[in-house]
Amino acid sequence: MACDILQIMISGKNKLVERCLCVAPMMDWTDRHCRYFHRILAPSAVLYTEMVTTGAVLHGDRERLLGFNEEEHPLALQLGGSDPADLAECARIAKPVD
Ligand SMILES: Cc1cc2nc3c(=O)[nH]c(=O)nc-3n(C[C@H](O)[C@H](O)[C@H](O)COP(=O)(O)O)c2cc1C
Repeated sequence: MACDILQIMISGKNKLVERCLCVAPMMDWTDRHCRYFHRILAPSAVLYTEMVTTGAVLHGDRERLLGFNEEEHPLALQLGGSDPADLAECARIAKPVD
């Protein structure tokens, strides 16, 4: 089966993962608890966070917004925003949080 390839940061390293099955980002649903449950159901699916806005990352509770369990990988963060500098800063902030 042919699958899309997604480049994703896992444990500080850029890795290529096949995107045969993904669980879409869903606000108020795909928090870390839901994703952990999804990982049990689908061991190799790519999981997405809820959309997290740049304002929330820059000014909010980062551990709550960005925290995850290593078991959730492959996991993609969905950032929402319109300012490239803020998006870049949030990507830098998100990288080391686990
Ligand atoms: C409750 C709910 C929350 C969602 N939140 C987001 C979100 O945070 N970011 C996003 O890009 N899409 C969001 N979506 C859209 C879904 O990611 C997905 O694109 C949509 O449900 C269509 O997928 P489907 O064709 O598999 O049903 C949300 C959808 C639902 C139902």
